Amino acid sequence: MSTVVLIGTQWGDEGKGKVTDFLAERADMIVRYQGGNNAGHTVVVDDQVYKLHLIPSGILYQNKMCVIGSGVVIDPAVLINELKSLEARGIDTANLKISQRAHVIFPYHQRLDQAEEKSKGNNKIGTTCRGIGPAYMDKAARVGIRMIDLIDQDEFAPLLERNVANANRVLTRVYDNENVDYNTVLESYRGYAEILRKYVDDISVIVNKAINEGKSILCEGAQGTLLDLDHGTYPYVTSSHPTAGAACLGAGIGPAKIDRVIGVAKAYTTRVGEGPFPTELKDETGAYIQERGGEIGTTTGRPRRCGWFDGVMGRYAVRINGLHCLAVTKLDVLSGLEKVKICTSYNYRGDILDEFPASLKVLNECVPVYEEFSGWREDITSAKKLEDLPVNARRYLDRVSELAGAPIALIGVGSKRSQTILTAEL
Ligand code: IMP
Repeated sequence: MSTVVLIGTQWGDEGKGKVTDFLAERADMIVRYQGGNNAGHTVVVDDQVYKLHLIPSGILYQNKMCVIGSGVVIDPAVLINELKSLEARGIDTANLKISQRAHVIFPYHQRLDQAEEKSKGNNKIGTTCRGIGPAYMDKAARVGIRMIDLIDQDEFAPLLERNVANANRVLTRVYDNENVDYNTVLESYRGYAEILRKYVDDISVIVNKAINEGKSILCEGAQGTLLDLDHGTYPYVTSSHPTAGAACLGAGIGPAKIDRVIGVAKAYTTRVGEGPFPTELKDETGAYIQERGGEIGTTTGRPRRCGWFDGVMGRYAVRINGLHCLAVTKLDVLSGLEKVKICTSYNYRGDILDEFPASLKVLNECVPVYEEFSGWREDITSAKKLEDLPVNARRYLDRVSELAGAPIALIGVGSKRSQTILTAEL
């Protein structure tokens, strides 16, 4: 019985969906604790592909309680679509709970996100334009609308009226954009409220009760450590906290309730959107990884930038999140490369940096210091245990673990649940 937090150690898209799905089998409750529908999980079960943005992938199992925590920002239209498409495929969604305190995304948030990105020109962040940043801005400015407000007939309309008026002033006067129509939004969101009402609850009470009853809880983070508002490559980050500390806030539990923190790392690195990426490969090796890894964003369909595994980032993620172990995914993608490289440190104007710098100016000038390894040609997609992997692949993993400073407990060698090698207790 334990409470486990699962986070991404890179810039998101590490394959958390697959690892969550794997761990969810043993959990009684799965809690999504931050982010919104900027995230996308692809889970493959019995050759069926499920793409989820808001609902924890634990929903694919029967009888698991799935919770959307208070740190999440919810686009109700997206959530309802997700619920409907799961139900249409015979998946029961009755076990879903949504935090009363989660904030709601409105059409003006999306419009503001798009307008802000456009106005930044070459300095754009490359957001998903789903309204995530503006929704968190409202939350921090203490004018956001929460799920509890959305389902309150009396509270909702005046709050919305005020926010639409404010947003319209910014949209029209700052960005020369069109107004959002209050009545249209009011009508559609009243409809959403009626559909979602039955799921809305005090999730902190529910999660703490489950912990006290000895149940196993899995808290899943969205995005990754380097997209964290505090610890990521600011300002090229998301507006929430994908790091482990935020699990307490989003699930409404105290830090002492967390037993274990697991970090998911791809065997290489990817990034969507703008921002520095020291180990990026803009050559045919990058193209090879992108093609073999199917590195296209689940949410926006944008191609992901690809590069070598970055040990400096790995170490950083282990420290920031207090990781007990790593789950390394998509090792199979590197098969067929004659040489593989791992970045061990950065060279900044002749100085060797072992720790991840805060300054983007410095980061942009960092040249990765690489160690080169012989690759492996073998198809490893049916490997069941560590010994089934080619010796070069094992050497590679050993170095990843050594550089990051955490043991590897799980290795992904394909997208299916069965293509997973367990190497230690998770
Ligand atoms: P936002 O979260 O839409 O505001 O986007 C901010 C940055 O985070 C952009 O670079 C996005 O591409 C990136 N981002 C947001 N969500 C994800 C994700 O789930 N995976 C990878 N990158 C993401």
